[in-house]
Amino acid sequence: MSQRQLFVTTALPYANGNFHIGHIMEYIQADIWVRYQRMQGHQVDFVGADDTHGAPIMIAAEKAGITPQQFVANIAAGRKPYLDGFHIAFDNWHSTDAPENHELARQIYRDLRDIPASQGGSLIERRTIEQFFDPEKNMFLPDRFIKGECPKCHAQDQYGDNCEVCGAVYAPTDLINPFSALSGAKPELKSSEHFFFKLSDPRCVAFLQNWTQDGKLQPEVANKVKEWFSVRSNPDGTTSEGLGDWDISRDAPYFGIEIPDTAIDGAPAKYFYVWLDAPVGYLASLKNLLDQRGVNYEAYMANPNLEQVHFIGKDIVTFHTLFWPAMLHFSGRKTPDQVNVHGFLTVNNGEKMSKSRGTGLDPLKYLSLGMNPEWLRYYLATKLSARNEDIDFNAEDFMARVNSDLIGKFVNIASRAAGFLTKRFDGKLTPTFDAQGAALLSEIHAAKDSIAHAYDAREYGKAAREIMLLADKVNSYVDQHKPWDLAKDSANNLALHQVCSVLINAFAALSRYLAPILPSLAQAVEAFVGTRMNDWTHTGPVTQIHPYQHLMQRVTPEQLDALFEPPVITEDKSVPGGGSSTAPTLGTDVSSLPPEGAGLALGRPGGESIAPTISIDDFAKIDLRIAQIVNCEAVEGSVKLLRLTLDVGEGKTRNVFSGIASMYKPEDLVGKLTVMVANLAPRKMKFGVSEGMVLAASHADEKAEPGIYVLQPWPGAKPGMRIH
Ligand code: 2FM
Ligand code: ZN
Repeated sequence: MSQRQLFVTTALPYANGNFHIGHIMEYIQADIWVRYQRMQGHQVDFVGADDTHGAPIMIAAEKAGITPQQFVANIAAGRKPYLDGFHIAFDNWHSTDAPENHELARQIYRDLRDIPASQGGSLIERRTIEQFFDPEKNMFLPDRFIKGECPKCHAQDQYGDNCEVCGAVYAPTDLINPFSALSGAKPELKSSEHFFFKLSDPRCVAFLQNWTQDGKLQPEVANKVKEWFSVRSNPDGTTSEGLGDWDISRDAPYFGIEIPDTAIDGAPAKYFYVWLDAPVGYLASLKNLLDQRGVNYEAYMANPNLEQVHFIGKDIVTFHTLFWPAMLHFSGRKTPDQVNVHGFLTVNNGEKMSKSRGTGLDPLKYLSLGMNPEWLRYYLATKLSARNEDIDFNAEDFMARVNSDLIGKFVNIASRAAGFLTKRFDGKLTPTFDAQGAALLSEIHAAKDSIAHAYDAREYGKAAREIMLLADKVNSYVDQHKPWDLAKDSANNLALHQVCSVLINAFAALSRYLAPILPSLAQAVEAFVGTRMNDWTHTGPVTQIHPYQHLMQRVTPEQLDALFEPPVITEDKSVPGGGSSTAPTLGTDVSSLPPEGAGLALGRPGGESIAPTISIDDFAKIDLRIAQIVNCEAVEGSVKLLRLTLDVGEGKTRNVFSGIASMYKPEDLVGKLTVMVANLAPRKMKFGVSEGMVLAASHADEKAEPGIYVLQPWPGAKPGMRIH
């Protein structure tokens, strides 16, 4: 196979928070692919960067009293422990606020703007539009920063683009009594000139219709994208035909890149909408890497064999399959060769994905507990396929896969043979094997292409299954030949030597197959067996081993318990609109927490300090109501949750999930009154939508003092009464 030249990226994370487990999953998925390609001898440049621009980051920085540049630098400074910790080996990590990105984004824009008439003319158009403006903050408001009453169900405090209660989609101007989420002021409609990328232009449509359907996308993604050519959703909930033009500009103040030639006649400059310059950050990071190496960026990109491969989450498909390829193509640049879309990662069936009851799976906490990063890499690999589908991290399943498969079936092969070889044969292996052993090794070697194909196609689960099937065969060979019995009689020396030699050769080959997933273990195996692990094509036998050092510990239930222990501090520091490509977005951001244990105030009632003071207005935002539990049942598939049907005096009931199954039998709760947060945004959980939260008390240290107690009002309270 000729050498491939690959330029690989993962989605650029917003620089408004630390990595969550969804980011880590995506990076591991891409890292496995990159490592596999390198083992095949291909040339790979694997880059990432922080996605720094946009209103949410600007506003978060302002709140923090620092410049946006300082804000994103602080976030960037926290990236390394995650990447190193999970063996994610980017060749470069850059920033969309770097000079390379400013230059490239502006040049791409100019190229789109200045397309000559002979080629159909400019794809940039100016249009005056009306938008909500905050007269106190003196700025146009992004949709997520406008709130008001839902025009459909009249729920209060809904965002400007959709209602979280009834799901209605609308334009901010449809909101009843809109207000600015930044200042509380009543926004005014003001007109402003915006710049649009003419995606509806027949040239773009024709190009994209072909580009999206010619094999660069997974079939299910291509099919979804196909629909967008015939129908699209408008902000006001209606639909229109075909692709719409894309608003690529934002008015000052905005943290972003100035659009060329807009600061004229004393007018303030316009800025690129963050999503215009974000993917350009892929190129900027690559250019920065090449500059460090003294390689010419233009020449590199001009290589007709260069393959550009993006790994992204399913929520940002539009940007990567419509806007991005069109921008690149019509500015005369290379377009991506693969856009690989993955689903979301949920944790323990989504049960733990709440700020108040747990963090999901916090990657730094995982590492700080001494949990092996390769357990997670292996576990995620077993679940990953080429399809765009969600996967779930399940604690019990994790333990079974790591302990039974990875260690029980695979790592133990080495420990079963190494001792005999070292003690009895000076670490030397036989060059020839018994017939069955030779056949087993041939079978293992013959699987090389099929496993390679699975890696290349991102079917890691399939690769892992094939490898474990081979490990099963090795283990039945051990069970048949019983080296521990052979060792009892020196007349069996040759047989013992051969059997153990077969085992170590098998182990070396399987380790090489697992090396993209378990790079650190593979390195340790290389030191142990002396054959190269980072070369997929290596075939030479192991001739001599070094003394065996234990290669991997088992995961313990205590580690998993500690990992999922709820956080002590549950303050929500999320930024509206600062969504994320890889979900989950709900985990507590450890960067915002004090050092581990600092919030735990043992000796204090409840085990935690009293939260910072809030105003009466803050309290008034929480609508606490008396609720009657009209029905209560167990939730199939969950040991923690009960499903409560609550009457809050609204003339309809609400469905609420509560993690109290360890304390209450459903039938004991039916008919009782309790207290609920009635204006909490509904949350989608694996088992359905939870429309509020029942109040319950528990100790901060769940282990030291287990138990969770539902609140019950004094007699006289009626469903629907508000708690003041
Ligand atoms: O959704 C997100 O998290 C974005 N920051 C992804 C950007 S990907 C690329 F275009 F930069
Ligand atoms: Zn509504």
